[in-house]
Amino acid sequence: MIINLPKAKSLKGILSPPADKSISHRALIFAALAKNEIIINNILEAEDCLTTLEALNKFGFKIGRLSTGRYLAKKLDNKIISEPQNIIDCKNSGTTMRLLAGLASSIAGLTILTGDDSLRNRPMQRIIDPLTKMGAEIFSRSDGLAPLAIRGGELQKNFYFSPQIASAQLKSAILLAVANGGMAVEINEPAVSRDHTERLLALAGENIKYGLGKIIYQKDQSDLYLPDLLEIPGDFSSAAYFIGLALILSKSEIIIKEVGINPTRTGLLEILDNMNAKIEILNRHQLGNEPVADLKINYSQLKGTVISGSVIPRMIDELPLLAVIAGFAEGKTIIKDAAELKVKETDRIEMLALELRKLGYQISTNWDGMTIYGRENIKPNEVRLDCYQDHRLAMALAVAGTALTKKIILKNADSVNISYPDFFRDLRNLAIF
Ligand code: S3P
Repeated sequence: MIINLPKAKSLKGILSPPADKSISHRALIFAALAKNEIIINNILEAEDCLTTLEALNKFGFKIGRLSTGRYLAKKLDNKIISEPQNIIDCKNSGTTMRLLAGLASSIAGLTILTGDDSLRNRPMQRIIDPLTKMGAEIFSRSDGLAPLAIRGGELQKNFYFSPQIASAQLKSAILLAVANGGMAVEINEPAVSRDHTERLLALAGENIKYGLGKIIYQKDQSDLYLPDLLEIPGDFSSAAYFIGLALILSKSEIIIKEVGINPTRTGLLEILDNMNAKIEILNRHQLGNEPVADLKINYSQLKGTVISGSVIPRMIDELPLLAVIAGFAEGKTIIKDAAELKVKETDRIEMLALELRKLGYQISTNWDGMTIYGRENIKPNEVRLDCYQDHRLAMALAVAGTALTKKIILKNADSVNISYPDFFRDLRNLAIF
């Protein structure tokens, strides 16, 4: 799909962002594990989460769709998930593959997980090693690449895990193996990553303690029960593109309603605060076990900053957008310690820099980050950018392009369907062209 966008002058209005992708994946998996009847409200109906839904079907889990985003998981025997009847295509979704690899490790039988060209080139050794130590048998292609063939079953009773990478997908793979396998685990993360799995386990009344990167979870033999109604908040990572665009387009003022502000996800807000952004957090409240708020964003004159260390995992998906925003700040911005960006849906360091240079950005890159020095004042009438089928690159480049050029043509932009199918509709509604 090719998208054409004119230059936007300003952003005004109210946005209700799509449902949180990370929580939607997890809500579906938890509904498959829980023994009670559950209604989930506001599941993200985008490609990645539908991929998890289809995968869970193969494990024997059925869930009914009541209306848009509203699903009912009945209390039936078929909620007992078991060896899948066929191989599972995780398509583009790393979360599906890594979380389900954990679950499969605790299920007696064989599970085969594959994915698209991008996913089959993303690192899986990071989950293979600990799950193997826990007792699963896992085969992969050379270099720990998918397809993965997992023979799961009885796992060891106690597991201590101190991963090298702060990754919520990795941590959640282990926690789901424990949740379904009935064991005890202690995990010490090198830095805090998103904690949605821990929050759902706590919501289910499980014996879990977490915080500051340390997680202790003891699963007894009892069944897992969730509240009868699970509400999913708006996705901060999707809302972020409009936060960014409002900050860089003069005279902008927008309100983003009911968006998740879980501190393990909102490193971007801390960095933008350092950069002088005008963002107000209003109407703070809880939804499920997640903090939620409305955000008011005004155009701001930003200054450059340095982003490194423990904030990186708390804004990993927002780093491409931050690089875009940095091009509008006074002074340079340095991003360090972000090597994980190279193993996302694409190499988000090199691909992003390549495309942003076409818009006049002055960027240098290295193995774990980039420096954005500013922008040459070029004023091309029309720029063609490639999004490489990466949803976060597509949305970050749409922000940069619509702020800078008379006409932006985005190739491979249909990847927004992965996490935010209505992104271009919402952009057209909020922008004043
Ligand atoms: C996710 C975790 C992050 C993030 C991804 C979603 C999740 O990946 O980049 O978009 O839902 O757990 P890592 O945990 O591998 O950093």
